[in-house]
Amino acid sequence: MSEPKENPLEKIASLCKRRGFIFQSSEIYGGINGFWDYGPLGAELKRNVKELWWQTMVLQRDDVAGLEATIIMHPGIWRASGHVDTFADAMIDCKTCKGRFRADQISEIPCPQKPSKKVSECAGEKTAPRAFNLMFKTCVGPVESEENVAYLRPETAQAIFAQFKNVLETSRQKVPFGIAQIGKAFRNEITPRNYTFRSREFEQMELEFFIRPDEVVEAVSGSVAAPVSKGHPGRPGADWGWQLWHQYWVEERIRFYGNIGLPRATLEEYWQSDQELAHYARATVDLLFKFPFGTQELEGIAARSDFDLSQHQRFSGKTMGVFDDELKAAWEKLPKERQDALWRRYYEHRKKYLARMGVAEEQAARTATDDANGLARGQYIPHVIEPSAGVDRLILALICHAYSEDQAPDEKGKLETRTVLRFHPRVAPIKAAVFPLLKNKPELVARALAVRDLLRPHMNVFYDEAGAIGRRYRRQDEIGTPFCLTIDFETLGEKGEALKDTVTLRDRDTMSQERIKIPELLSFLLSKIH
Ligand code: GLY
Repeated sequence: MSEPKENPLEKIASLCKRRGFIFQSSEIYGGINGFWDYGPLGAELKRNVKELWWQTMVLQRDDVAGLEATIIMHPGIWRASGHVDTFADAMIDCKTCKGRFRADQISEIPCPQKPSKKVSECAGEKTAPRAFNLMFKTCVGPVESEENVAYLRPETAQAIFAQFKNVLETSRQKVPFGIAQIGKAFRNEITPRNYTFRSREFEQMELEFFIRPDEVVEAVSGSVAAPVSKGHPGRPGADWGWQLWHQYWVEERIRFYGNIGLPRATLEEYWQSDQELAHYARATVDLLFKFPFGTQELEGIAARSDFDLSQHQRFSGKTMGVFDDELKAAWEKLPKERQDALWRRYYEHRKKYLARMGVAEEQAARTATDDANGLARGQYIPHVIEPSAGVDRLILALICHAYSEDQAPDEKGKLETRTVLRFHPRVAPIKAAVFPLLKNKPELVARALAVRDLLRPHMNVFYDEAGAIGRRYRRQDEIGTPFCLTIDFETLGEKGEALKDTVTLRDRDTMSQERIKIPELLSFLLSKIH
């Protein structure tokens, strides 16, 4: 009888636990559903990914500033954002097995009492679907009362909107510009599942990129540039409207994934249909990755119009508009009919938003008139494009994509299965492992330690002297270390001058070995990991 095929996700989870990438949270107490810890290697992998995102999105650009806000914020933020009223999943309770399930997943979920059965087959009577808010609630201060209720943030985005004015005023940025944040977010998922993919505590990397409304672009530049049919639209221009900015960020994000080892061919672009779009969104592209459990979202890039800043302006009573001197100067030079046409379009957009938010018609018309009159004075509420990525699901995608098995000879030349994590060197938790060929030769050990110390200030290196060299290579292959460096008798000059001060550089993927001079090691490795 053939062995039952092992589920690839189980193999990956087992490797992650065995080698210290991912552990179940609170495991010694039986775990807690929907929470995961990162072990020593997982923590390094995650730090690398977040650092690369920050480098790409903030430090390498002139037009993005960073933010690090608190997890608990004024609950008014979540009323303005809509999360208090609408951030809910429909849930269904099973009266027999007492399970609670997401209504949209009920046909896929095993019944807790009879795992072989799907819930939809479980004979138990079900309740009607009820809304279940996904925000974790807590109380601020010693009194547990309604007025002290606060929420753990379900997304990092809202702090960016709430601090928009402070960042604008202190960073010397001008629209178009972005604010980026990396941080924890919390969602009380009804059914956390698929390993770390849908967790209750997770981390996000979000950019809110603020742009001029199209009416302003048109007033300043004469027209709005047409979207491109495919691919990256190139360097941003003053005449870009929201569609080009949206395309730009989709392509920039795809480029980022390519740079960390997930090439375009591993991603799927999914344009949400009008029915799927959130109420604030004009367009959303999901970047999907093929996980072992199905093709799922890694990141959403949404064009959110001016919804968020408008909501915070209405709920906080503080203006979220900006003054744009180029608009003011351009407006004064526009022919009257152009002014009227742009005024009307902006007015209609603002009135539609206000009406959708339940503002009475007369009030909406008055406010929209004020907003449109503001254009002539150079004022408007910026629109926003939001690339929002989940760190944990990206870590899982990187591990799934990197995981591979091949055949390699053991010490006696017999082929054995080799497990390799083929991480891109930029994200690999350990960049290079340093081995003395033999641990009982003090000269080899001393040279190996010197090589480790040479590299250590610049990258994460790992020194290992235990066991046969072949086993040491395998241990590094399994955790994705791209390079192994072996210090041997050639290094010491015992096999001739030509090889003195060289080490063996062994490549994880090809298993090929070459000799490299110690003084060239650092620049070689840096060129691979940057
Ligand atoms: N800010 C969008 C999200 O959290 O999905």
